[in-house]
Amino acid sequence: QQAEIGLIGLGVMGSNLALNIAEKGNRIAVFNRTPSRTDEFLGEAGGLAGQIIGCHTIEEFVAAIRPPRPIIIMIKAGEAVDQQMAALLPHLAKNDIMIDAGNANFRDTVARFERLAGTDVTFIGMGVSGGEEGARHGPSIMVGGTEESWKRVEPVLTSIAAKFNDEPCVAWLGTDGAGHFVKTIHNGIEYADMQMIAEVYGILRDGLNMSATEIGEIFGQWNKGRLNSYLIEITEKVLKATDPETGRPMVDVIVDAAGQKGTGKWSAIEAQNLAVAASGIEAAVSGRVLSSLREERIAAEKLFGLPALAEAPKDKAAFIADLENALLAAKIAAYAQGFAVMSSASEEFNWSLPMPTIAKIWRAGCIIRSQFLDEITSAFTRDPDVANLVVTPAFAAMVKETDAALRRVVAHAALSGLPVPALSSALSYFDTYRRGRGTANLIQAQRDFFGAHGFDRLDGKDVHHGPWAGQF
Ligand code: 6PG
Repeated sequence: QQAEIGLIGLGVMGSNLALNIAEKGNRIAVFNRTPSRTDEFLGEAGGLAGQIIGCHTIEEFVAAIRPPRPIIIMIKAGEAVDQQMAALLPHLAKNDIMIDAGNANFRDTVARFERLAGTDVTFIGMGVSGGEEGARHGPSIMVGGTEESWKRVEPVLTSIAAKFNDEPCVAWLGTDGAGHFVKTIHNGIEYADMQMIAEVYGILRDGLNMSATEIGEIFGQWNKGRLNSYLIEITEKVLKATDPETGRPMVDVIVDAAGQKGTGKWSAIEAQNLAVAASGIEAAVSGRVLSSLREERIAAEKLFGLPALAEAPKDKAAFIADLENALLAAKIAAYAQGFAVMSSASEEFNWSLPMPTIAKIWRAGCIIRSQFLDEITSAFTRDPDVANLVVTPAFAAMVKETDAALRRVVAHAALSGLPVPALSSALSYFDTYRRGRGTANLIQAQRDFFGAHGFDRLDGKDVHHGPWAGQF
């Protein structure tokens, strides 16, 4: 019996995805560049091996799949994908589908889609979120490609996706790069979420002098409330873990320099390209960049010293409650920004991205999964074309309830010299967005002064330049 789908690349993510596919009752053919890995994988598959056809050559692999053949390519993003696609193409037939499931830049996906448009073969760019565990037991899957190719893969992908209230966390989001774009923004939001959590950890550790275990306890409490989410859940676990080498908390022995593979940066770049303010995502990317300058930071601390801490909050419990609300408020800003980027991209690239569906398929399986996304789903279902998530009734109410806490937390952190770039960006975002009369009138005047760039008048008069005293 032929396989329903094929998969190339038996690394951690590929292997787990293949096992998930097999476990859900789909026959799958697998191929790996190093054939011994394929044999090893079949050994690891245990009882699922019967559903898996291990292939040592591309010819064997292609012949093992039922046409039109969907083939998932799960290898390192970048040039390797193009090489693999080129090697595969001559073996494929009409309507076969190459599926790139890596963290590709959506611009590469659009280019690949267009390149294949001249052939018989079609292309799907598929964002897969959820890390190793998600791939194995149920990821969130964001699909971009033709509707016809989606129909071919829909049953298999539906069977392997995470479920939220029995609804599968997979959807077709539009043509060419739509799926990878949405995955990129998912990751941008993931960066913002993680940065904001880390900033709150910093306030507790350096401002309140709490131990990792104590802070873990607080995150554990928060996970039972409105912040309930995978990232808060793992934060508790991570903070409570002990280093077997030293017996100290694991986080206390880890170097404070964050890695990054590019998706967060791409989401900030695309936000800028689309002229959408995504200051929370940008702050998170810059935060990682500054974190990586460890030597420079250590030298600068020697040069400047650290500011004295502000007076400790009088009511510690109330301050910790403020931190919880501040995190919620800042999270709202970051998600509002991420969704605003997607809505602008949807127009720019003619995708018709379905906002309620995107929120829906992020409710389970992916790294940013949370209760909160269910609330976003409801808000967008009520009002799919709303200009900004923060003005939907439910989120406006949440902002009104929490922004004072965010203000107190940011103020306290600023007075204590504790860096909170993402939290403070969220506060500035709200403060700017809610103020009807801003200060860009001055910028317009300056632009007109030095470059005759022109301005509009509040009274609508058709006069667009000043007389400026002392201009030339
Ligand atoms: C996911 C993750 C996943 C990966 C990121 C991490 O949704 O499952 O986002 O795709 O862990 O690429 O990105 P950085 O290495 O850039 O932090």
